This record gives sequence, structure tokens and C-alpha cells, in this order.
Amino acid sequence: MTAPAPPAGDGAAVRLERVSRTFGRVTALDEVTWAFPRGGFTAVMGPSGSGKSTFLHCASGLDRPSGGTVRIGGVELGRLGEAGRTRFRRERIGFVFQAFNLIPSMSVEENIGLPLRLAGRPPDPRRLAEVVARVGLTERAGHRPSELSGGQQQRAAIARALITEPEVVFADEPTGALDPRTARDVLRLLREAVDAAGRTIVLVTHDPVAAAWADSVVFLDRGRIVDELVRPTVAGVLARWEEL
Ligand SMILES: Nc1ncnc2c1ncn2[C@@H]1O[C@H](COP(=O)(O)OP(=O)(O)OP(=O)(O)O)[C@@H](O)[C@H]1O
Ligand SMILES: [Mg+2]
Repeated sequence: MTAPAPPAGDGAAVRLERVSRTFGRVTALDEVTWAFPRGGFTAVMGPSGSGKSTFLHCASGLDRPSGGTVRIGGVELGRLGEAGRTRFRRERIGFVFQAFNLIPSMSVEENIGLPLRLAGRPPDPRRLAEVVARVGLTERAGHRPSELSGGQQQRAAIARALITEPEVVFADEPTGALDPRTARDVLRLLREAVDAAGRTIVLVTHDPVAAAWADSVVFLDRGRIVDELVRPTVAGVLARWEEL
């Protein structure tokens, strides 16, 4: 199957052009060209080993592609040095991981404010309290991550990813460790970030229910984008998944 055409024009938040990533003899990403629309919620699906995490890492500047270019908000990541990329990520990108990755010795509120402190912009206490409230953790603001449920930890991680008002939030299986109901709370927060705040979200998931929260689902297979499903339903995602 030929890859579908990426959205045209400059409404893209993230644009990849012929991005490849090899590990020794393994080609994890094979000349991927794609554009993620600004203010869009895109899910990325594919079999294990199809290159989803590699794709996310290259698209977000966590990893350097072996070839091709990645642009976020018009900035070509390959032109930034190591330190420049780190600063760019810190200031303009949010991440959410399956394992939450909160700092165990810090309270929920300290964790959420951390990206701003790292960027040398100490958070305004009122705004911090607002963000904590939005993810439903006001009662837990002073608690350590170990005192929280998985869903609460992931909500804290989402608040931390959103606090800098990033152009793009990348999430790698953020609901992978959660039960279905808790997963739904987390997905609702991501959906809200798109609908209410106009964030751009790229979500890697194995779960057709999670994917159906997105505006579109991109399917990866053997390092290539092989299809896109716009306005996905759970049944539609499952049907496409079975053909891969
Ligand atoms: N650091 C690495 N060193 C060597 N090979 C790697 C490395 N990272 C990924 N790969 C290989 O690249 C391919 C794609 O891996 P990737 O982790 O992107 O897959 P994935 O789609 O995220 O899989 P999963 O659903 O299991 O998380 C695999 O064949 C993997 O073994
Ligand atoms: Mg992965």
C-alpha cells in the first residue's frame, strides 16, 4: 500500500520529511514523511516493533534521525545543537510516558511546576494551583507520587506536560499501565487540552479505545506509515488493525 498524502500547507505543528532511523542493520523508520496539523489530536498505532516509539522520539527531538528533517513550529531540529535541542524540548514540547516518570522526592505540585523552574520561569502559584485543579489533584497537591494511584500519577504527568503551554504534547502509551476507567480520565484530559486550549497531541497507543479519542489514527508498519483513518471509531480501528 502507498502511504497517504500528508496534510499540505503550513498548518502543521510537526512536519517530518523522509525521516529514517537505523540501529545497526535494523531500519526502525524508513523515510517517513508526515505532517501533524496544529490543534489536532493524532494517534499512532502499529504492531510491536513497527517503530512507534522511534517515530515519537525522532519527531520530538529526543532522538536524532539517521536521515531526513523534522520541523516543529517552523524550527528544523537538526539545525539545533545538543544543548539547543534540549532547551527547545524543555520550552516548547511536552512529554507523557507510560511509566509516568514523576520525581519521587517531589510533591505533585513541585513535579508539575518543575518544567517552568527548569526553564528559569518559576511558576506563578495561582496558575500552578489552577493547573493542579484542572487535573483534579487539588487535595493531593502536597503528596508524593508514591502516595497516588496510577491514574492520579498520570494526571500529574499530564499537568506537568501542559504547564509550559507547549506547541506539541507527545505521549507514548500513556494509558498502557491504567485500567479502562482511569485510562478514560487521562484521555479526556488530553482531549480537553486539544479542544479547549488548542494543543497539538501525538499519542502512541496499542488500544483501539484510546485511539478512537483522536481526530485521526496513523498506522505504522515496518517503519513506514501505511494508512490513516480520519474520525476513527473503535470498530473502524479494530478492522484496520486486523488487516496489518
Ligand atoms: N536503541 C535501539 N537499539 C537497537 N534497536 C532498536 C533500538 N530502539 C529500537 N530498536 C529497534 O527498532 C525497531 C522499532 O522499535 P520501536 O521501539 O520503535 O517499536 P514500537 O513500535 O515502539 O514497539 P512497541 O509497541 O513494542 O513499543 C525494533 O525492531 C527495535 O528492536
Ligand atoms: Mg514502543
